[in-house]
Amino acid sequence: MKIEYAERIGRLPPYIFAEIEELIIQKTKEGVDLIKLGIGDPDLPTPEIIIDELIAESKVSDNQNYPTSMGEEFFREGVARWNKVRYGIDLDPTTEVSHVMGGKEGVANIARAFINPGDIVLCPNPGYPVYENGATKLCDGDPFLLPLKIENDFLPDLEAVETDILKKAKMMYLNYPNNPTGAIAPMDYLKKAVDYAEDYNFFIVYDNPYSEFTYEDYIAPTILQINNDHVEINSASKMFNMTGFRCGWIAGNADIIAGLRKVKSQIDSGGSIFIQKAVIKGLNEYTSEKKPRIVAKSMKIYEKRRDVLVNGLNDIGWPTNKPQATFYIWTAVPEKYCDIPCMDFIKKLINVGVVVTPGIGFGQYGEGFVRFALTQNIERIQEALERIKNLL
Ligand SMILES: Cc1ncc(COP(=O)(O)O)c(C=O)c1O
Repeated sequence: MKIEYAERIGRLPPYIFAEIEELIIQKTKEGVDLIKLGIGDPDLPTPEIIIDELIAESKVSDNQNYPTSMGEEFFREGVARWNKVRYGIDLDPTTEVSHVMGGKEGVANIARAFINPGDIVLCPNPGYPVYENGATKLCDGDPFLLPLKIENDFLPDLEAVETDILKKAKMMYLNYPNNPTGAIAPMDYLKKAVDYAEDYNFFIVYDNPYSEFTYEDYIAPTILQINNDHVEINSASKMFNMTGFRCGWIAGNADIIAGLRKVKSQIDSGGSIFIQKAVIKGLNEYTSEKKPRIVAKSMKIYEKRRDVLVNGLNDIGWPTNKPQATFYIWTAVPEKYCDIPCMDFIKKLINVGVVVTPGIGFGQYGEGFVRFALTQNIERIQEALERIKNLL
């Protein structure tokens, strides 16, 4: 029997990290001590009050049944309450909030409800690869890349996009605080984006999993503070160090959410009720836009790591900016190696025992950059800096 894949599978790019993964396996077999600053998976534990709630709620037999795909009523109400205290916005939990099984699932499945073959989707690049691939290409849509350039503070230059493209666009992904660049978007920029969306009749999927990953006094806004024509996707993954729990939500425009609900009701049966309970326990810690202690505690740790890494890179002659948000450090490949592809530079780093992510992994406009994730303690970051210093 000949197995034939669907054509859309062929449109997905080759898995760029396979080569790196192989090298990591090989180095580990050789006994090399690798300092892993590649993947954006928090190394800090889930807050205890959330775990305690999870344990207690998992013992309740009603919580062991099938959940509803759109999220339990208490979950949608809890998310609406969080949106009120955190952003000051009113949402109807019946129609304007829904559960997703992690932001990734929401980001990908929303395209299933709205993208017809050939429809244009505006995708920031470098960016979370799911926008282009898992969402757009797997729905036979056409990704139009919005380059995030350093000279534009890593914000898409919407004025540079041809009118024809904007007219044909159906959806735009935006993500600030941004992965991988660590950039933030001022409210004025978001207002401009909303104006474009209105003028050209597309909607914005505001992917906001780093809304709470901010430093000093910076508080990240959401697009829903401007109006309710769009949707925000957020999740417990980074907020509460819960990547493995797979729990998130979508909020905003009821018609957009109805489309996603219809798709999801045919695909999944929702996320565990006891996990939804645990996440709401965490969200209920919020009483204002200020981070509650359980979140602020993690951010203090990331802030110290950020300072050690960025100051350290600058000290060893690798110019790097300090981001105001996210736990990523996005920086251009140092001058000594700027003529080689970032992937080759990454291999040199792995050879000295430091694993980071090549910019090209986030799309063609990521070439020439690398991304560090602040997922190791300060001692390990200092050790990584020593190794990088020797390489440079
Ligand atoms: C920009 C962006 N969006 C969405 C996600 C998905 O996160 P999750 O599915 O864990 O909520 C991530 C995860 O790294 C991300 O970086």
